[in-house]
This record gives sequence, C-alpha cells and structure tokens, in this order.
Amino acid sequence: MDLSTTFTGLRFRNPFLLSSAPPTESESNILRAFDAGWGGVVTKTIGLHPVVNVVGPKTKFLRADADSPRLSMKKRPGAALHSSWNWELISDKTLDWWVPRLGRIKKGHPEHMLVASIMAGSGNDIELRHWQELAIACQEQGCDALELNLSCPHMDRPDMGSNVGKDKELVSIVTQVVKQVATIPVWAKLTPSTTDIVVEARGAFLGGADAISSSNTFTSLPVVDADTLEFEINVDGLVSTGGLGGPAILPLSLAKMSQLTQAFPDKSFSGIGGISTFEHALNYFLLGCGTVQVCTAAMLDHAVGPTIIRELNQGLTRFLEKNADKGWKSVGDLVGIRRDRVVAQSKIRRPTEKDYRGGYEAEGYATAEELGVKN
Ligand SMILES: Cc1cc2nc3c(=O)[nH]c(=O)nc-3n(C[C@H](O)[C@H](O)[C@H](O)COP(=O)(O)O)c2cc1C
Repeated sequence: MDLSTTFTGLRFRNPFLLSSAPPTESESNILRAFDAGWGGVVTKTIGLHPVVNVVGPKTKFLRADADSPRLSMKKRPGAALHSSWNWELISDKTLDWWVPRLGRIKKGHPEHMLVASIMAGSGNDIELRHWQELAIACQEQGCDALELNLSCPHMDRPDMGSNVGKDKELVSIVTQVVKQVATIPVWAKLTPSTTDIVVEARGAFLGGADAISSSNTFTSLPVVDADTLEFEINVDGLVSTGGLGGPAILPLSLAKMSQLTQAFPDKSFSGIGGISTFEHALNYFLLGCGTVQVCTAAMLDHAVGPTIIRELNQGLTRFLEKNADKGWKSVGDLVGIRRDRVVAQSKIRRPTEKDYRGGYEAEGYATAEELGVKN
C-alpha cells in the first residue's frame, strides 16, 4: 500500500521519521534507518563548535514495577519502560565532519528525506550568522529541510537551546535569520517547558517557520536511590536537569500539540513524544500533525528501530485498509479530524439538576464515611 504523504512540500514515503538523537548521530545509523524503512530522519543536532559530554552514561531508562509503585533506573525483570532520561548535548562532531557525510547520504538515498537539525548561539550578530552558515552548508549538501533546535533542555548558555525556545522574540529572530538564506523548508523544534507554547509558536511562524516540531524532552531530574541517597544518574554525586522522553511524555506532549494545532489549524506540525506504536502516532495525526518522529523507542530497538518502523508501517496499512469505506487513502485524510474535540472544561456536559449529587457524595470523591466526616 502507498503510505506516502506530503509535508511542508516534501514527499515522504511514509509519515514516520527518526527524531534528532543518538539513532541519527552517524552516517551508518542513518543508512541503516533508511534501509529499515523510515520515511525520513532528522540528524542529531549539528553545531559549529565541538561539545564535550559528561563522563559516564548520557542516557538511562526509568522503569516501573508491575506489582509495586517503585520507579527506578535499575535493570530488573518484569519492569516496564516509563521514560528515558538524558543529559546528552548536541552532536560531538562538528559541521566539517557532517558536511561530506550529508552529501553522501543524500546522493545514495534521494528518495528518503534528510532533515538537518542545527543549533548555534543567538546572543549577537556573529552568532546569528552561525545559524546561517550551518543552514547553507546543510542545504548545499542536498538536505531536504532544516530543523532548528530551539529546545534542548540542558544548555547552560542563556542564548542556546530551550533558553531560546522560551523567548518568543529570539525564536522569531533565529527563524527569520535562517529563513533569509534557506531555500528548503525550515521546521522549528520548540520546548514544551514553557507556560504557553502557543506564544513561542507564534514567534516561529512570524519568523517564517514552515512547520513546528514538538515535543523535545521535558526538563526533569533523575530519582534518588533511597539506600545510597545518590541520584540514580550522577557524576561525582552531582546531577543537573536533563530531558525526559518516552512513554511518560506521550500525554504531556499531546496536550502541547493540541494547543498548537488549535491555535494554528492551517499550519504544519511534526509530532514527537512517547511514540512506539501506530496507535500512539495516530493520536498526533488526529490532532493535526502531518508527520511524527520517534526517539526513545528506536534507541531501545537495535539503535535505529527496525522493529518499530515495521510495526508503524504495518499499523498504518492495517488502519487504512480497515477504514477504506470512509475513503481514507493516506494519513493526510486523518490529519486534524479530532482537533476540535478538545474543548474548555466548561464546555463539557454537566449532569442535569435531577441527577446531580454534589459534595462528598459526588461520583469519584471519597464518601463521608471514608473521610471520617460526621453528618
Ligand atoms: C539521548 C537523547 C539525545 C537527544 N538529542 C537531541 C538533539 O541533539 N537534538 C534534538 O532536537 N533533540 C534531541 N533529543 C530529543 C528527541 O529528539 C525527542 O524530541 C525526545 O526524546 C522525545 O521523543 P521520544 O519520547 O520518542 O524519546 C534527544 C533525546 C535523547 C533521549
């Protein structure tokens, strides 16, 4: 079945992409991902200057026990994945390393979409020109689109990553600066860690963004081990805030996406956060996303998610076959069809006066006896 879809003017053989992260950190990974069937990839974020990561693990996975409320990063049988936690910086390879590889990847796989994720500082004109330098170099190698990383949650510099994504004016300026030189679509990847993501999205669209990608990871801390009193991931006992991804953020990211697609129903969105099955991805399509991206689930599946993409493609095929009578031929036919079902709480139907039992007796609340209240 033809699973192709058009997003920001680009034809994707299917709407499933690997997001910017370890699965797309090297040429060999990206080639394996294309062979496995991903419609496109967003490269690990490329910068101009070398970065040095912390010693020890950059990512760990938090798991939940089936029969107790315990959450821990310790590996144990029978535990289910709750989330990923990482404090990895952008690619530790610089633009010079990436340039020949981007060219080779694109030449070898013209039918797969190669999106370059880029990041620079934004504190002055020189740094803003770095964004342009990165954009020009990637598009000269044949990249199909650019994704601006305005969302990495663990950059110390106030003019980088999610610190840019929290400032609507900087979001707008960076997007505009890149759009001045871009000949390919520009996607802005926003941080979910703000009060109202619609504000920053408006900045990105005013700057000329062709699409918004959301969510990057949510700002978070690892849990403390109650025996050692150490954070479960630390270096010399120290930790900083990092990013939470995986199953735990699916509902959180959907709420952000719902706000975005309702505020800008005619714009393009790429949904990210907690996706490992077609059913998860479907949520994003129904809310108004034209493509979706996957990270944590792929990291845990042979590093580039061959099983995940097979099941995503099979899930979409089954879904389109099952609903053929509705005339749905591609994911484009589903985009946004549940967007307007999310409404203000006050618009949700209340019981009639006759049925209403207020106070302690209302359904869902503890009874007076349970609360120990004397009538
Ligand atoms: C180890 C790790 C590294 C990441 N690096 C980047 C990055 O360089 N650039 C970026 O835009 N997002 C980065 N992300 C965020 C992911 O692309 C994605 O937005 C996030 O993990 C949520 O998706 P998920 O729930 O499928 O993991 C990274 C995530 C992880 C877990």
